[in-house]
Amino acid sequence: MLAYDGHARRSVLSTPHGDVDLPTFMPVGTQGSVKTLAPEEVASTGARVVLGNTYHLWMRPGPETISELGGLHGFSRWPHAMLTDSGGFQAFSLSSLTKLTEEGFTFRSHLDGRKGHLTPEEAVRVQGLIGADIQMQLDVCPPGESPRATVEEAVARTTRWAKRALASPRPEAQALFGIVQGACFPDLRKAHAEELAALDVGGGFDGLALGGFSVGEPIERMHETLAEVAFCLDPERPRYLMGVGTPRDLLVGIEHGVDMFDCVLPTRNARNGQALTRFGRLIIKNARHARDPGPIDPQCGCAACRGGFSRAYLRHLYLSGEILALRLLTLHNLHYYGELVAGARAAISEGTYASFKRRSLEAMEL
Ligand code: GUN
Ligand code: ZN
Repeated sequence: MLAYDGHARRSVLSTPHGDVDLPTFMPVGTQGSVKTLAPEEVASTGARVVLGNTYHLWMRPGPETISELGGLHGFSRWPHAMLTDSGGFQAFSLSSLTKLTEEGFTFRSHLDGRKGHLTPEEAVRVQGLIGADIQMQLDVCPPGESPRATVEEAVARTTRWAKRALASPRPEAQALFGIVQGACFPDLRKAHAEELAALDVGGGFDGLALGGFSVGEPIERMHETLAEVAFCLDPERPRYLMGVGTPRDLLVGIEHGVDMFDCVLPTRNARNGQALTRFGRLIIKNARHARDPGPIDPQCGCAACRGGFSRAYLRHLYLSGEILALRLLTLHNLHYYGELVAGARAAISEGTYASFKRRSLEAMEL
């Protein structure tokens, strides 16, 4: 650990594809690309970890093909670190007829109806072939606001699957993270976090994630639960909050000791014509930008703002259906997220995180 400021912490995650300064935000590259951007453009935003999805890459082009072509690094030409999610979460939300048993998930592909079986062992094997630096265990994520008994069952099964994942052979260079479930029941989450941290099969987990957030519960409940739980996760290991979130969620997560985040929000919203900025959301198609010669944010160093592209031009491109609009907005949004976590890291080092968070939130509300 380099520094603590309250529960907020600054550290470095070492991977076979370089060191990563934490806290960090990881752009989502579901199909092996961060939509609209080439690898060097993604890196220009400050991102040093990209997330891939086992479910999608398994269905197409298939892990054997990826492995043959150099693993996801060689295949996609992303030179920095990569993490793959295990696939269960996506299989459940995308494919039809997903069945959940003690063995694993059975589903039909959303592409061609092919039947698939995803077990904790198979998830490790497939992620091994894909070759990311960090694998995630297969877990059970209960639907938002499930009753306590359902959540307890999901937690218990996730622990049994954790042991099976740890016992499965995987390439030595690959890290494996466990996933803490427990919805918005802090006692279940704390107990699960301790249980997963104590597993020592195959050397134990290299990191611990918080899954099962942002699945329909009110944002305030997520923040309250994070406040009670995140700092309890083994301080020696990286803590990853899965699928979260907004700039505010990142600031809150970091405050409570989270080190890593991923979310489709900055990239997806860019493709829907939204620029996320220090001052809040900017809807590029709005008429008020029609003759605005200024950039999205004059203080932003991204290719769009630094390049002098005006709000008026971006609006024109977006309304004309031009791909360049989506690319420039994606570059801007990821750059903004990159700056946000870089600012958080600097503030933690200086011991000024609380005021950094307060100032950032105030600016967003303008
Ligand atoms: N992404 C967002 N939430 C989750 C979760 O609970 N489990 C997994 N595997 N991925 C996620
Ligand atoms: Zn910008």
